[in-house]
Amino acid sequence: MMRGMEGTRMLFTTDEIQTRVRDLGAQITRDYRGRTPTLVSVLKGGSVFLADLFRQIDLPVRVDFMSISHYREGDDESGVVRVLKDLDDDIIERDVIVVEDIIDTGLTLSYLLSSLREREPASLEVCTLLDRSARRIPPLEIRYRGFDCPDVFVVGYGLDVGERYRNLPFILALDRERAQGDDPDALVPYLSGALPLDTARTGAAD
Ligand code: IMP
Ligand code: MG
Repeated sequence: MMRGMEGTRMLFTTDEIQTRVRDLGAQITRDYRGRTPTLVSVLKGGSVFLADLFRQIDLPVRVDFMSISHYREGDDESGVVRVLKDLDDDIIERDVIVVEDIIDTGLTLSYLLSSLREREPASLEVCTLLDRSARRIPPLEIRYRGFDCPDVFVVGYGLDVGERYRNLPFILALDRERAQGDDPDALVPYLSGALPLDTARTGAAD
């Protein structure tokens, strides 16, 4: 018998995501008319959103990537990160938009923004697909957001659990404790449709 993970539910469908991404692309196109923004994606999670988003922007755009690793020991969450791969190009005098999959506490992003600000871009804004604002620690100004995300662990559309499921075209919600759980393949039966997803979307975006 197929066993999955109890309580796994659809949070944002493929259609909902694509519609929202189109809206965000149109909004950025209007706001940056006449300019050539640089979209900076934070690997790996942000890359799926970036790939869809920048094809919905009707302007010349540049893309660049950063890869970071977190220093997270115990409760001392300073947000300090180690840069594993820096941007290829300078951003001085450029209009930069950081593209993120999810902003949770915001510690990572706030650290990243201060490091980018030192490079003196003409402007610096944030576009995140998901905003879990309930867990925010430092105040952050987020210009573009796809959805407000309830306080549950999410996977799919770039977001992983143990490096799996980034390739799902939709976003699933899992119980936080279970997400930390034992079997990384526990969600696999849902992917093929062998197990139905819970369609009760408790706590989904308002
Ligand atoms: P923050 O510094 O707490 O805002 O952490 C943000 C980063 O944590 C995101 O860019 C994700 O890589 C990761 N993250 C936070 N919440 C989730 C989740 O629910 N699923 C998968 N990754 C997450
Ligand atoms: Mg990330």
